[in-house]
Amino acid sequence: MQTGRQIENVALIGFMGVGKSSVGQIVAKRLRFEFLDTDQQIEAEAGKTVPEIFAQDGEPAFRERERQLVGQLEQRTQLVISTGGGMAANPRNLASLQRHALVVYLWASPEVLLQRAGQLKGRPLLAVADPAARIRELLTARDPFYRQADVLVNTEHRSMNEVAGQIVTQFRMARREHE
Ligand code: S3P
Repeated sequence: MQTGRQIENVALIGFMGVGKSSVGQIVAKRLRFEFLDTDQQIEAEAGKTVPEIFAQDGEPAFRERERQLVGQLEQRTQLVISTGGGMAANPRNLASLQRHALVVYLWASPEVLLQRAGQLKGRPLLAVADPAARIRELLTARDPFYRQADVLVNTEHRSMNEVAGQIVTQFRMARREHE
């Protein structure tokens, strides 16, 4: 792990639909931290939904909002952050998160993510003729970034509560190491 870091927060990264928000809410409750979902935060600030931002302003405008938000988070403490699937695929955003948070990659196999894809509503990036191909393509590009997380947690064959418990344990250990 990098030295000189101040681990104040938990940041969950990983692909759309892997369970970042559900797991993040449980982790926040257990740590008695505040929960922040970056997509929800961006929607609140923009006064419109993520699909509306993509449709009206374009993806670059959304990515710029993500970039600004990630910078603001560096000042925060006692936060569990659930990131949008593209946020940590940008090396600068990832480096920013790693300055203050234990970064946790919630992993599921491409097969499982593909199975869940049908249930993923409101994801403009998957509103294409062949979402399966899109998922494979995005995963291939993003996995190397996601893997730079401090901790990788396999979300398959275990409940959200088990995943959350593992993250809480890792966070407490990491904080002790940095004391
Ligand atoms: C995106 C993931 C979404 C949202 C936007 C773009 C991505 O968040 O930020 O639709 O690029 O993977 P979730 O991971 O919460 O679905």
